[in-house]
Amino acid sequence: MYRAKITAAAYHVPDRVVTNHDLAKVLDTSDEWIRTRTGIRERHFAARGESTSDLAAAAVKKLLKQRGIDAKEIDCIIVATVTPDMFFPSTACVLQEKIGASNAWGFDLSGACSGFLYALATGSQFVHSGAYGKVLVVGADLMTSILDPRDRNTYILFGDGAGVVLLEPTRPGERGIIDFLLRCDGSGGKYLRMPGGGSLHPASPDTIRRNMHVVHQDGRAVFKFAVQGMSDVSESILRRNHLCSSDVDLFVPHQANIRIIDASTEKLGLEQSKVVRNIDRFANTTAATIPIGLGESYEDRRLKKGDLVLLATFGAGFTSGSLLLRWTL
Ligand code: UT7
Repeated sequence: MYRAKITAAAYHVPDRVVTNHDLAKVLDTSDEWIRTRTGIRERHFAARGESTSDLAAAAVKKLLKQRGIDAKEIDCIIVATVTPDMFFPSTACVLQEKIGASNAWGFDLSGACSGFLYALATGSQFVHSGAYGKVLVVGADLMTSILDPRDRNTYILFGDGAGVVLLEPTRPGERGIIDFLLRCDGSGGKYLRMPGGGSLHPASPDTIRRNMHVVHQDGRAVFKFAVQGMSDVSESILRRNHLCSSDVDLFVPHQANIRIIDASTEKLGLEQSKVVRNIDRFANTTAATIPIGLGESYEDRRLKKGDLVLLATFGAGFTSGSLLLRWTL
């Protein structure tokens, strides 16, 4: 029986850094408000003409170099995103061509901020079943393509970025991905969504006039769900694996608001030193926050072989999820 393990992790963010001070020049906001309410100091914004697949391709190229393999060895590519380059072809197809993964098939997965965990769980099953030996799982979003730059409620919260991991089968005695727990509750859909552009409200002068092609969010409603949702999935996955928070070596939560991260961490009883917090530099990159957190922690040697790693997320849908793994690199 095969299990899946992560054998490489990398990320890429665009060059342009936009600080809170930069935003305060064009919006009725302040560095102080953004920092104290969200924990964000700055974020990276893509250049005009840059797309989600460009960010993903840059992250994948770093990963292939890190693992020392050719793109032709990849069997399958899963791209979690809510900002695909276009409706179709999928961003996975665009990416497959850009990186030269000519032996791979792939698809996009829409799970909003939980997209990466949904994709990681899905990809792990292809390895677990023995179907594939090398699966790329990408979380990539170019949020600036769906934000209203005049809306201070949303524009300050997000950044652009991509992260990727490679899944391969474990060797005898290795654990790799241990368990995952994924949820969704469609009744939360109205609180965070982009209503226009799909089959319900196809793009038209009317949808543009009604500003339907950008993120709409009821921040307070999402906040409440987030703290409860993220701590609940984390507690449940630990409990059903007969583990407690002190067993966790590194917690990589979705980065949407430092207050959400801190409140969930406190509920879980986790030491602050075990929590990845990079929202100050990247803001909320939607499907990319967790793979960026993994890529950065691996690069900084914060992740060590044998570490028990807990990933947790929540997002539009509502969606939420947690995943437990043993780091094997
Ligand atoms: O991964 C995606 C999931 N999304 C999230 O996780 C978001 C969850 N929600 C949040 O993170 C928080 O609710 C926000 C950061 C979005 C907002 O923080 P809040 O503490 O809930 O503020 P609020 O919405 O209750 O607004 C407080 C005040 C309001 O003014 P009044 O009505 O009290 O006069 C807002 O108009 O702050 C005002 N405000 C701002 N002021 C300065 C809202 N945005 C801004 C801003 N700058 N950017």
